[in-house]
Amino acid sequence: MDAIVVKGSPTPLQGRIRVSGAKNAALPILCATLLSDGNSVLRNVPKLRDIDTTAALLRFLGRDVSVDAPMVSVGETRGTVRPEAPYELVKQMRASVLVLGPLVARYGRAKVSLPGGCAIGARPIDQHLKALEAMGCTIRLERGYVIAEGPNNGGQLQGAEVYFDMPTVTGTENILMAAALAKGRTTLLNCAREPEIVELARILNKMGAEVDGAGTDVIHIKGRARDELAPFDHAIIPDRIEAGTYLIAAAMHEGSDVVVEGADLSDLEPLLVKLRAAGVTLTTEGHDLRVQRTRPIKAVNVTTAPHPGFPTDMQAQFLVLMARARGESVITETIFENRFMHVPELHRMGGEIALRGNTALVRGVDTLYGASVMATDLRASASLILAGLVAEGETEVRRVYHLDRGYEKIEEKLNAVGASLTRVRNAEG
Ligand code: EPZ
Repeated sequence: MDAIVVKGSPTPLQGRIRVSGAKNAALPILCATLLSDGNSVLRNVPKLRDIDTTAALLRFLGRDVSVDAPMVSVGETRGTVRPEAPYELVKQMRASVLVLGPLVARYGRAKVSLPGGCAIGARPIDQHLKALEAMGCTIRLERGYVIAEGPNNGGQLQGAEVYFDMPTVTGTENILMAAALAKGRTTLLNCAREPEIVELARILNKMGAEVDGAGTDVIHIKGRARDELAPFDHAIIPDRIEAGTYLIAAAMHEGSDVVVEGADLSDLEPLLVKLRAAGVTLTTEGHDLRVQRTRPIKAVNVTTAPHPGFPTDMQAQFLVLMARARGESVITETIFENRFMHVPELHRMGGEIALRGNTALVRGVDTLYGASVMATDLRASASLILAGLVAEGETEVRRVYHLDRGYEKIEEKLNAVGASLTRVRNAEG
């Protein structure tokens, strides 16, 4: 298995880093290609393992897919569609569940493996299923699979009013896609408001559906007949979480001066507010964001929340910044029940962090020390790389396949601004 060795250095980072396209926007949009035939083209797609997994899933379903990053084309259906997402693919990537809505809406039937729990929490999909039932689906769970069938043995879904018990990102996306091919109007209440949902709605509108209200907590969709939506050609938005990770990378060193190119600034606002409060200087330069650190970092408290709150996907990286701050901060995680797996690894690097339920009490230290550490999810891996940038000595971040799911060319990008990351084979995992 690959590991990344980060050579810690007090030398500040200088230069420019370009942000790639948003993984979490690309995944649902690739699944939306199932809503029509014909050739859809998606541009600005990052070269990542999750994109390859989605391409493999679409091929399994019968579509002709070519991945030539940053472009992905999803072509005609080859032969008959097999509306089934097998466990082998779903277990590699939970977001595979995003084919459930499109498949049952288009073909009247879908068999999709239940994703199961994952490192950061149980992550059930009850809200997706409840919404499909409200739209007339019959849902059965059989040997680890969800089997969904449209009304009257595979008929078209019915528009409905759906209330989500909590804002769920992929739940909102799944049902948005299903509603695009449902009879009549669907109203979704208490929706997630993430920018990736707004991007998916943009695509559905390009395809010919009528989606109104994405980005707020109430979305109205006027569905079309099953053969009425058209393919699309679209360049996806920049990855706000990747951008945020590089902002924090720069903020780790006093004296850094880095321009993060192509970050969509409004989407980053909750993070920018906290970085400014911590004493980081941020200047907008067109679509770019210049980040300068000229003084010590102040301790700042953060509580994760659904967008436009502070993103859970930035919690681990921000916690590492606080691990070197002046003073104590309180980091509270409200979205996932088990998203502090980076903390024990940071202890091994000299971090002073106490965990109390869903809260981390972080006391900033002057020095972190390089160690062998193991990442257990994507953002935790990124946070350990950030810690390694400023640690004394070398940090070996193991199992970087997690990192490869979400950060395109991370070594190349960070090395270009003065960091030292080397990918090595580690036989022990
Ligand atoms: C999306 O996951 C993202 N994944 C995650 O990105 C992100 O951390 C998360 O949203 C929160 O922002 C993609 O977009 C592909 P949720 P998702 O449904 O949709 C509970 C990354 O690092 N819930 O919004 O799976 C759930 O357990 C990642 O890129 C239910 O109880 O998250 C959680 O506590 C990892 N029942 C909360 O809601 C449901 O049916 C929010 O989860 C659905 C969700």
